[in-house]
Amino acid sequence: MIPPPTIQRGLLTLDRALFKKSVSVMAIRIPANMTMECKKALGTDLLLEPKIRNVIESNDGEKSRRLVLLSLAIKNKDLEGASEKTKEFVKGKGIDVTKAEFNIEYDHWTADEILRAILPEEIIDEAPSSFTTVGHIAHMNLKDEYLPFKHLIGQVILDKNPNLRTVVNKTDSIDTTFRFFKMEVLAGEDNMIAEVKESGCRFKFDFAHVYWNSRLHTEHERLVKMFRATDAVCDVMAGVGPFAMPAAKKGCMVYANDLNPVSYKYMIENKTLNKIKDNLHIYNLDGREFVRKAVEDLEKSGYKRPPEAPVVAKGKKGGAKASVPKPEPTPASTAAVEPVVERSHAFQTFDHFVMNLPATAIEFLDAFRGLFHGREEQIPEPKTQLPMIHCHCFSKSDKPDEDVRERVEAVMGGQLDRDTVKLHWVRKVAPNKDMYCISFRLPAEIAFASDVKRKFESEPESSDTISGTSDTALAEKRAKTE
Ligand SMILES: C[S@@+](CC[C@H](N)C(=O)[O-])C[C@H]1O[C@@H](n2cnc3c(N)ncnc32)[C@H](O)[C@@H]1O
Repeated sequence: MIPPPTIQRGLLTLDRALFKKSVSVMAIRIPANMTMECKKALGTDLLLEPKIRNVIESNDGEKSRRLVLLSLAIKNKDLEGASEKTKEFVKGKGIDVTKAEFNIEYDHWTADEILRAILPEEIIDEAPSSFTTVGHIAHMNLKDEYLPFKHLIGQVILDKNPNLRTVVNKTDSIDTTFRFFKMEVLAGEDNMIAEVKESGCRFKFDFAHVYWNSRLHTEHERLVKMFRATDAVCDVMAGVGPFAMPAAKKGCMVYANDLNPVSYKYMIENKTLNKIKDNLHIYNLDGREFVRKAVEDLEKSGYKRPPEAPVVAKGKKGGAKASVPKPEPTPASTAAVEPVVERSHAFQTFDHFVMNLPATAIEFLDAFRGLFHGREEQIPEPKTQLPMIHCHCFSKSDKPDEDVRERVEAVMGGQLDRDTVKLHWVRKVAPNKDMYCISFRLPAEIAFASDVKRKFESEPESSDTISGTSDTALAEKRAKTE
């Protein structure tokens, strides 16, 4: 590698001109028609530097000749540092060895190389060139020692990644309710409206005011894959719709909600962007209230589970024949989901609830206690007809299955049916903290309970839960439903 020039370290602004460098190497001068033969013979004794051509015009004014540049390890006209094979080839063919010079500049080096050349020596062990992208935005998580150089770092990242238009640094503080990070623009446009693609859908959102995490795409896809096209799905903390949009596109009847008015706004926009029609209903409510409201609204809409469309499969001789639809292959991690049984009874409700607010979603599960009280006769086979719940959470326990199940049972005030419970590991969020998704079928004992006392409902809202929201504003917020 050609090292960048020595530059005064610790500068706070980027001066790209400082990276101009003239490089001197040994070269052989050959007739143009020998170029391929020489390159083959010299192998790793050629100058093999990214972005630098190792065959250039000869500098003696002879158009029919070329200079083949040699490795930086080769020191002089005697080819000291080259292999014996190279030396013999050059000598045997009577080739002229000479010196050549070329210029390189800022563009030549990677972001990491540039940063290592300009940051103070004591902090270059892990030069901070790593970032995550969300659309045109790169977001970094700079450690304190890099903060004095944050704008310079941002500019280098921007220069070296042509697909980016904005570089931001996440500050430590996260909005406790809506889960988005506070961010500061380091370089480029001050434009936080990102557009990304995931699960075959387009998502547009204000990254400075809503939650988005591209690392969750596998989890989004896992659950959506589990839903049948004929399922009704209720996404209680939907963000800008990474479960809801692909599920609706798949054909599910989807009710999606987020308490953040900005997420709500973008969910509506994303519905249009993805050309989703009437099978996606969007709300801006508190999740606990939404669970009841969605069940009520789905029933009021006269929802009937559509019949499964027969799958047209090819017969043995290539002819098409109708067959009974098969569920999508069920990954081991979704084994808790039983095959859906056709419902002929009058009352039809959601097949799945999704609750992805890992820090507190478990606390919202009391909303399911007594949710179907009085419906016992309309739901004669609760073990297959009650919805599946997929609730995300964190656990630090070395027995996460027990830990999560017990916390869920404590909030719901009843036992889960062990046969339907499955804990899926989603990702590590800290050295001793993992994110999981517990999936289980809502137990009849809890769904039909007559006491609907909520464990958390009566507690006063903490100031960071719906900060600054007056009763009237809250009522308005509640009325806001697309
Ligand atoms: C971790 S994010 C997940 C968003 C989305 N499901 C996803 O996978 O990207 C949690 C979401 O819950 C929303 N939220 C927070 N408190 C809520 C509440 N009480 N009711 C409904 N949504 C809430 C936040 O605004 C945020 O969008």
